Amino acid sequence: MWGTMKFFLDTAIIEEIREANSYGILDGVTTNPSLVAKTGKTFYKVLEEICEEVKGPVSAEVTAIESPKMVQEGKTLAKLAPNIVVKVPLIKEGIKAAKILEEDGIRCNVTLCFSAMQALLAAKVGAAYISPFIGRLDDLNQDGMELIGEIRQIYDNYGYKTEILAASIRHPLHAKQAALLGADVATMPFGPMMQLFNHPLTDLGLDRFLKDWEKVPK
Ligand code: G3P
Repeated sequence: MWGTMKFFLDTAIIEEIREANSYGILDGVTTNPSLVAKTGKTFYKVLEEICEEVKGPVSAEVTAIESPKMVQEGKTLAKLAPNIVVKVPLIKEGIKAAKILEEDGIRCNVTLCFSAMQALLAAKVGAAYISPFIGRLDDLNQDGMELIGEIRQIYDNYGYKTEILAASIRHPLHAKQAALLGADVATMPFGPMMQLFNHPLTDLGLDRFLKDWEKVPK
């Protein structure tokens, strides 16, 4: 399998998005109602700010739980910017809505996925992304990463194009395991994304180089 491992920031805080983007490593953003609530701003204001900063996919979640209303909300959200991806929950009505939206050319991210067969349902209706929640499975003493591996295998068995977006990532090891297993995207909060840069030997090594450089005759 060839391609790129994409990093999305799982946040609605514009300052975090701007900083991650400034390093050239940000491929997109995922939001959810809980993350938007933390900003204290309106949903549309938050999305407007994010889409101005990020050209890659920006997931925005519907809050309706019946498919006709989800479709209506999704269409309104999609009009905000060309890079909006409509997030729908993995319930029957969400799958129904995803099929209608995708057929209408609106990309969907099916969220709150906790099993491989749920992921297969999302792929069958042509969802652009499936979001398995790793950390929340780990919290229940189930191996979240095992789910990523299962979905990868099932999608590859049949050539489904739905991208696996590893979500609820809590630390750099989750991100590494997701990459090893061939997830297409890892979405993570700002903290874990910044931790990806760090290694104490890098800091020590740089310190030594800089000190030795002072001894070089100028
Ligand atoms: O992308 C899903 C994420 O927002 C959930 O993360 O840490 O609340 O399980 P968490």
